[in-house]
Amino acid sequence: MKKRVFSGIQPTGDIHIGNYLGAMRHWAASQAEFDNIFCIVDLHSITVKHDAKQLYAKTRELAGLLLAVGIDPEQSAIFVQSHLPQHSELTWILNCFTPLGWLQRMHQYKDKSAKQETIGMGLLDYPVLMAADILLYESDYVPVGEDQKQHVELARDIAGRFNSIYGDLFRMPEPVISKTGARIMGLDDPTKKMAKSETVQGHAINLLDSPDSIRKKIMRATTDSQRDVVYDEKRPGVFNLLSIYQLFTGKSRSEIGSHFKGKGYSDLKSELAEVIIEGLRPVQERFKDVTNDPAHIEKLLQDGADKVRPIADKTLNKVKRKLGLG
Ligand code: AMP
Ligand code: TRP
Repeated sequence: MKKRVFSGIQPTGDIHIGNYLGAMRHWAASQAEFDNIFCIVDLHSITVKHDAKQLYAKTRELAGLLLAVGIDPEQSAIFVQSHLPQHSELTWILNCFTPLGWLQRMHQYKDKSAKQETIGMGLLDYPVLMAADILLYESDYVPVGEDQKQHVELARDIAGRFNSIYGDLFRMPEPVISKTGARIMGLDDPTKKMAKSETVQGHAINLLDSPDSIRKKIMRATTDSQRDVVYDEKRPGVFNLLSIYQLFTGKSRSEIGSHFKGKGYSDLKSELAEVIIEGLRPVQERFKDVTNDPAHIEKLLQDGADKVRPIADKTLNKVKRKLGLG
């Protein structure tokens, strides 16, 4: 039996090369090894202010991007969280077993609630919905960024609490944290991680950026006042550009080092821009192909939901029976 990997991705913001290099291309590459479920978590996106039209469009765009980076719907499932009411139903049940204090101490809740005028219950409950996502599918592994580790641990705590009361009900999921080697930093500020939520112009290269926009952003990327192109972690701007170059070309550090010997930052930047443009070209072409026909994406999402529904139903029914519901 293949181990099951569950990934939840919010359909907000623009998907950038950090997401691609640090996560999505690994998901595509490991499909044969694992039983992968990709869930577009639109219910999580309404925990903060949102625009309905945009959420709907971004949900479809993300599905198209997952296909474009090489996720194969024959091997993996891609579906939308709100298409399966089982997520909301299990959330309610888990809520009744989750102490308020566990939720109030979540880092993300503290950060996000400080930025909201009024704090919706959904924001506090966000990690319980995430626990429901994970536990419904008997997930073995959950790949997340460092910031989401606490939420996966909470899912384990909730599962543990249930299991201690009702016997072995839930499979214990394990967080898988992406390696720090693949941490892409912001182009405007190489001391900060490239992030979807950042809105500063030139911060990130998005997967659907035009060649012109990629060239402009790379040429403006923050470096330092030195000249030579060498790997040096103390020079985060150049280090980040070299890391991106390395990940797109697959060349070794020493090959890259000798290639840029005697050259300056503008050489690195103009070569890097072309490397990114070429690296993203097949992704952008596939994206155009698959989204050309909107019915194709709708069908994909429907098939994805049909594929995973029996798993969600089975878990939910088991839970309801144990609790005396129904
Ligand atoms: P997020 O954009 O935070 O929702 O993250 C989605 C996935 O992309 C997670 O698996 C992250 O670990 C990965 N990811 C996000 N930002 C970066 C980055 N700057 N560098 C590498 N991986 C990233
Ligand atoms: N909270 C996650 C994030 O913002 C997204 C997410 C929702 C998720 N449900 C999940 C991730 C289940 C992994 C498993 O990145």
